[in-house]
Amino acid sequence: MKILVTGGAGYIGSHVLKQLLESNRHEIVVVDNLCKGSMKAIDALKSVGEFEFIKENLENLPVIEEIFKRGKFDAIIHFAAFIEVAESVKNPIKYYLNNTANAINLIALCQKYGVKNFIFSSTAATYGEPENGKVTEESPQAPINPYGKSKLMVEWILKDTAAANKDFKFGILRYFNVAGASSDGLIGQNYPNATHLIKIATQTITGKRDKMYIFGDDYDTKDGTCIRDYIHVEDLASAHLAVLEYLQTNDSNVFNVGYGTGFSVKEVISEAKKVSGVDFAVEIAPRREGDPACLISNASKIRFQTTWVPCHEDLDEIIQSALNWEKKN
Ligand SMILES: NC(=O)c1ccc[n+]([C@@H]2O[C@H](COP(=O)([O-])OP(=O)(O)OC[C@H]3O[C@@H](n4cnc5c(N)ncnc54)[C@H](O)[C@@H]3O)[C@@H](O)[C@H]2O)c1
Repeated sequence: MKILVTGGAGYIGSHVLKQLLESNRHEIVVVDNLCKGSMKAIDALKSVGEFEFIKENLENLPVIEEIFKRGKFDAIIHFAAFIEVAESVKNPIKYYLNNTANAINLIALCQKYGVKNFIFSSTAATYGEPENGKVTEESPQAPINPYGKSKLMVEWILKDTAAANKDFKFGILRYFNVAGASSDGLIGQNYPNATHLIKIATQTITGKRDKMYIFGDDYDTKDGTCIRDYIHVEDLASAHLAVLEYLQTNDSNVFNVGYGTGFSVKEVISEAKKVSGVDFAVEIAPRREGDPACLISNASKIRFQTTWVPCHEDLDEIIQSALNWEKKN
C-alpha cells in the first residue's frame, strides 16, 4: 500500500511508522511540521526502512494537495493534532483549527483523490465522564473539553463521509493512556511538556523534575486517586496495522484501544518507585478540572474482530521501557 502518515514524527506516529517500516510492505510518506514532533525520531527511523519525510504544516493546503496529486494513496493514518487538554480549554480555536479543520481538509482530499482508507487517532477523552468508568465503543460520548470535542467532531465527519461514499472506509481508534517507548530503545516520547503520568514519573526518577504531583486524592475510587487504563505504545502501534488489515475485508469501524485494566495514580507511582528503586518526592495537589475519576476501556471488540494481539500487557514493562528511554535522553 501507499500510505500517508501525518504526525509521523510524534510519539505515537513514530512508533506506528516504525512497525510499518519493519513490515517492509508499504510505500510511506510522512508529513509533519515538527511543531511537537522530533527530527531525531525521523532520522532514527531511517535506519529501519525507507520512507519520504515532508516537513509541512497540514494547514498549508495547496502543498498538501500537491502531495496527493503525485500518486494515489491507499490509506491515510492521521496522527497530527494538538493533545493538551488544559491548553485546549484556554485556546479552543487552536484545537478546532488544527484537530478538526485540518482533518476535514484531509478527508476532503481523500474524497477528491479517491483515497479509500482513513485511520484516525481518536481518544478516550471523547467519552467525557462515564458513569461506571468502563466504556465500550457504544458508551455515550460527551467530551468535557475542547480537545475531546475537536476529536469527536472528526469522528462524526468520518461517519457521515463514509455513509455518503461507499468506497471510503474509516478505522477510528480511541486510545486510552499511552505510555512507554520502543523495546529496542530506538524511539520514545520526546514531547517536552508532557502531561502523561508515567512520563512525568520517569522524569522525576531521572532528576529532570524535583517532585511530581498527584492531582486529587479525594476521588470516589479505591485509594482516592484517578484510575486509568495504560497501554504500551508498541501495542497501540500494532493496533493500527491490525485495523488497516481489517479494513481490507471489512467495513468501517470504531475500536477502543486499551487493555481493559485500571490502575490508580498511586498504584502507578508505587510501581514506578519499585521498578526504579528510587523513592522520589510526590505531593498531593488539588484536582484538575475535567479529570474523570475512572476511565477504563472495554477493548474486547478490537481483540475479537481484528488480528490484534497485545504483547506488553504489563505495567512494570511499560514503566521500565519509559524509564530506559528517559535515562538515555
Ligand atoms: N498521547 C496520548 O496519550 C494520546 C491519547 C489519545 C489520543 N492521542 C492522539 O494521538 C495522536 C498522536 O498523539 P501523540 O501523543 O503522538 O502527540 P505528538 O504531539 O507527539 O504527535 C503529534 C505530531 O503531529 C505533528 N503535528 C501537529 N500539528 C500538525 C500540523 N498542523 N501539521 C503537521 N504536523 C502536525 C506534531 O509535530 C507531532 O509530531 C493525536 O492525534 C492525539 O490526539 C494521543
